[in-house]
Amino acid sequence: MSELIKISNLKKTYDGIRYVLNGLDFSIDKGEISTILGASGCGKSTFLNIVGLLDNYSSGEYLFCNDIIKPKKLNSYYRQRAMDIGFVFQAYCLIDSLSVKDNILMPFLYSGSDITGSLKENVNALLDNFNMSSLKNKRVSFLSGGERQRVAIMRAIIKNPKLIIADEPTGNLDEANSALVVNAFQNIAKKGTAVIVVTHNKYLSFGVGRRYTLEGGKLHQ
Ligand SMILES: Nc1ncnc2c1ncn2[C@@H]1O[C@H](COP(=O)(O)OP(=O)(O)O)[C@@H](O)[C@H]1O
Ligand SMILES: [Mg+2]
Repeated sequence: MSELIKISNLKKTYDGIRYVLNGLDFSIDKGEISTILGASGCGKSTFLNIVGLLDNYSSGEYLFCNDIIKPKKLNSYYRQRAMDIGFVFQAYCLIDSLSVKDNILMPFLYSGSDITGSLKENVNALLDNFNMSSLKNKRVSFLSGGERQRVAIMRAIIKNPKLIIADEPTGNLDEANSALVVNAFQNIAKKGTAVIVVTHNKYLSFGVGRRYTLEGGKLHQ
């Protein structure tokens, strides 16, 4: 079975009154790309934060790699969050004062892992893939929006995660740079990583995978 995530009857309320997610079902296989569309404020980021083990859910069931993710025990999933999940946000969330290379290596610097020779080779290969080798030692503050988003994607890929979660990854990009991002996710998915992309841009298409709309607290295919 190649199912990575299975979510059933998921509910989330922040205030105990209004349910932002209200009986949502979702599943994704390894290597699959899912696109989630929906109006601003419909709960897309809420859903991604729960899937990414950054926030609790109120009720329902969440299986990640067949492990039951219990709400209110988020700290015990630190390892999965750090090593199995890569995050790409609209706002990039890079460290401006550090170089491109150090930003890409951030997951390892942060977890205190050794930066081995093979890891350095992987960084070089990634930079090459994304046509950014010449920017390796440049500070991120000097980069354009499209270049920053590529750094954020490389930082997510370098761990070879089981899942990549992207919240409006092309929100700040022009068409050409959006196409690069789409292409990068397609290539990652071919290597077995599942990708969940949230967008309000209904023209963004990966040509493959399931497409959903989030409305009324539920996902509709
Ligand atoms: N931390 C929070 N506390 C209280 N309400 C929140 C919080 N985060 C989001 N919300 C509310 O939940 C709803 C969905 O927000 P969000 O998931 O950010 O939507 P989207 O990403 O689709 O724009 C909104 O009404 C928002 O105000
Ligand atoms: Mg959002």
